[in-house]
Amino acid sequence: MVTKINSLFFFLSLIFLFSLSFAKTPSKPRAFLLPVTKDASTKQFVTTISQRTPLVPVKLTIDLGQRFLWVDCEKGYVSSSYKPVPCGSIPCKRSLSGACVESCVGPPSPGCNNNTCSHIPYNHFIRTSTGGELAQDVVSLQSTDGSNPRKYLSTNGVVFDCAPHSLLEGLAKGVKGILGLGNGYVGFPTQLANAFSVPRKFAICLTSSTTSRGVIFFGDSPYVFLPGMDVSKRLVYTPLLKNPVSTSGSYFEGEPSTDYFIGVTSIKINGNVVPINTTLLNITKDGKGGTKISTVDPYTKLETSIYNALTKAFVKSLAKVPRVKPVAPFKVCYNRTSLGSTRVGRGVPPIELVLGNKNATTSWTIWGVNSMVAMNNDVLCLGFLDGGVEFEPTTSIVIGAHQIEDNLLQFDIANKRLGFTSSLLFGQTTCANFNFTSKA
Ligand SMILES: *[C@@H]1O[C@H](CO)[C@@H](O)[C@H](O)[C@H]1NC(C)=O
Ligand SMILES: *[C@@H]1O[C@H](CO)[C@@H](O)[C@H](O)[C@H]1NC(C)=O
Ligand SMILES: *[C@@H]1O[C@H](CO)[C@@H](O)[C@H](O)[C@H]1NC(C)=O
Ligand SMILES: *[C@@H]1O[C@H](CO)[C@@H](O)[C@H](O)[C@H]1NC(C)=O
Ligand SMILES: *[C@@H]1O[C@H](CO)[C@@H](O)[C@H](O)[C@H]1NC(C)=O
Ligand SMILES: *[C@@H]1O[C@H](CO)[C@@H](O)[C@H](O)[C@H]1NC(C)=O
Repeated sequence: MVTKINSLFFFLSLIFLFSLSFAKTPSKPRAFLLPVTKDASTKQFVTTISQRTPLVPVKLTIDLGQRFLWVDCEKGYVSSSYKPVPCGSIPCKRSLSGACVESCVGPPSPGCNNNTCSHIPYNHFIRTSTGGELAQDVVSLQSTDGSNPRKYLSTNGVVFDCAPHSLLEGLAKGVKGILGLGNGYVGFPTQLANAFSVPRKFAICLTSSTTSRGVIFFGDSPYVFLPGMDVSKRLVYTPLLKNPVSTSGSYFEGEPSTDYFIGVTSIKINGNVVPINTTLLNITKDGKGGTKISTVDPYTKLETSIYNALTKAFVKSLAKVPRVKPVAPFKVCYNRTSLGSTRVGRGVPPIELVLGNKNATTSWTIWGVNSMVAMNNDVLCLGFLDGGVEFEPTTSIVIGAHQIEDNLLQFDIANKRLGFTSSLLFGQTTCANFNFTSKA
């Protein structure tokens, strides 16, 4: 009898041990991350992914709205797992490509294969695009629990486009391509979500400093920054809007925009509505107007009439403060000593982007740290630009990188909404405060 009980106990404890060890086996990752740095000379935001077989680090400039990842396949692309995407295949159709290279002159190589789906990689900095073979290869990324990096995981078949070496012109030193985080099937976030079964969302937290690292999370929150703060709790949401026509520098007929648009309905300065033509804030059927977010424009660009109204209202609300000689490319500048200082930068009137929703409105407030740009030790300028005649003929407001630094933005593609925190400095943290020390 005693033996029987003992063996039953032994059996039960075995089950217990077994389930314990089961619980300990690494579960499916919730999220992945990439560190991001700001390149001092170009102000581009750059990251590094591991790609190919064998894996090599590939340095890339981040372009939030670009449709896909593209890399230089002409120089130094070596990989045993490289696969061209055939014309008419599912990845080809999903990319909305309108071109097929039936025959490539020259020996087969990455970027030159017969019967291959072709797309249009674009470089915003030189406003140039080329044709390029669509391909798939292995990508490896570091997983995360939201607080620290965890182990690397790989997936094959990540679609990207092959560009000629010349398309790297204008990119930061050592960069081999562009990481497109655009809202489409071949956008990097959607591909990772499908490959690793993580939620179809990502969050970017760009740092203002060129000597520390910001972070991009792919997948689920939390997003924990030192000292132990989950900033996903601070997110406020507004719908992401569709633009039916591509806003890329080049595109195929029928391609929708892969940029992230939000519904700004008015702008306030110090609580007062800035008088602007609000028709410009709507996205038209032919893809013009509206407000998008960009990581490749260092400062927010406004359609000329909006720019004029905004700067006029800003100057008026700071009428008592003398202006100083403007420093290009900006027009409204002040002496640092004549502006007070706050936790969120210089004490200037807050600029509020009022975001419409069917039921409610929310506001994205831009405080001094994100509105003013230090030009030298003495002078600070209002960091908004007139889109002017060279303005992309399409979008009325392009929210640029300076205005989103040290704000966490969550692009929740699956739920068609943008989550934003406004300045993290209010919560006494910054985008540079992620703990990049790996946990075992
Ligand atoms: C493409 O096909 C043509 C005709 O069959 C052949 O001559 C050429 O070498 C092929 N090119 C590549 C890159 O495979
Ligand atoms: C407002 O902008 C729209 C679109 O550009 C234009 O058609 C309209 O004439 C403008 N209205 C005013 C009052 O300027
Ligand atoms: C913008 O679009 C909304 C919804 O389609 C419409 O209700 C509103 O009148 C438009 N606003 C302007 C100024 O055209
Ligand atoms: C800014 O103010 C300081 C102190 O009043 C002064 O020394 C400096 O010359 C001013 N700079 C400019 C550009 O006006
Ligand atoms: C608007 O409010 C209704 C009722 O409270 C809710 O069911 C709906 O989801 C809300 N819509 C939006 C866009 O927030
Ligand atoms: C960063 O994370 C590591 C690993 O969990 C931990 O040992 C370290 O104390 C953390 N650093 C700070 C400043 O909290």
